Amino acid sequence: MKTWRDIATDGGSDVAGQVAEQANQLADRLRDVRRIVAIMSGKGGVGKSTVAVNLAAALARAGGRIGLVDGDINGPSLGRMTGVQAPISLSRMEGTVIPPETTWGVRVMSMALFLRDETAPVAWDAPSQAGGAAWRGLREAGALRELIADTEWGALDMLLVDLPPGSERLPTLADVAPRIDAAVAVTIPSAVSLEVVGRSVRMVREYLDVPLLGLVENMASHACPHCGKADPLYPPGRTEPLADALDVPVLARIPFDPALGMAADDGNAYLQEYPDRPAARAFAELADRLTLLLDAS
Ligand SMILES: Nc1ncnc2c1ncn2[C@@H]1O[C@H](COP(=O)(O)OP(=O)(O)OP(=O)(O)O)[C@@H](O)[C@H]1O
Ligand SMILES: [Mg+2]
Repeated sequence: MKTWRDIATDGGSDVAGQVAEQANQLADRLRDVRRIVAIMSGKGGVGKSTVAVNLAAALARAGGRIGLVDGDINGPSLGRMTGVQAPISLSRMEGTVIPPETTWGVRVMSMALFLRDETAPVAWDAPSQAGGAAWRGLREAGALRELIADTEWGALDMLLVDLPPGSERLPTLADVAPRIDAAVAVTIPSAVSLEVVGRSVRMVREYLDVPLLGLVENMASHACPHCGKADPLYPPGRTEPLADALDVPVLARIPFDPALGMAADDGNAYLQEYPDRPAARAFAELADRLTLLLDAS
């Protein structure tokens, strides 16, 4: 498939010029953002958004100025998960918005904040159904670019981008973002998830120069809320072979904790409410390791 870069002549519409202008605008907006880190997986439903929200919270708790973008344009979930459904305020500069902040100090931007209510679906009008998928892909990439570019992030130590499932999502982000400093891949220890995540990471490595800092293993065990003892939900040691094959570490193991799921549903601050739970400690360690790895790179 051709992209805008392959267009020899544009009939006077200056597509390449417009795209370059948008890219400059985005680079300008992200000028004071020190690092951009993508939370990816390839596989759906494995906990990318949960990791993104709680990693952001742990980084903010450690004193960082953190932003969080919901890269899921069609099925945005970060509005609910972070509790920032309040109307966003328009800034003095026309067409830009000030991102709302969670009660724990993370600046959030999500398509969910622009929807009338949580039941309203996001729909794209394609000129025709033939080629509709490509059209939707372009519209989604454009919407993601605008979501990031039209937000006054201010100075940030890190902007986390929570990607939707699909192996092409990081390349799409790379196409619209001026730079991506690193990626973290989330998986559960099921063979199905490990296979899809492995394929996605290899695909990304083939096309992009974005360092994968490591894997986050989610829901391998259930942590007892009383004594903290971990009960395995899968046979142990299933994520290491993939980490070894990809030559990256397992950065953190996040146990299943019903309170984590409930906090996500209610937009509550899990880390603040349960700082001593095993999953909360795992997020704090993940934040520390990530910071160390990024500082060393
Ligand atoms: N460690 C955990 N403990 C308890 N619940 C969890 C945990 N991780 C994720 N969940 C729950 O599992 C569900 C899926 O998680 P989440 O939305 O983070 O996955 P995702 O990979 O972002 O999904 P999608 O591919 O749709 O974007 C959510 O309801 C979430 O609250
Ligand atoms: Mg998600």
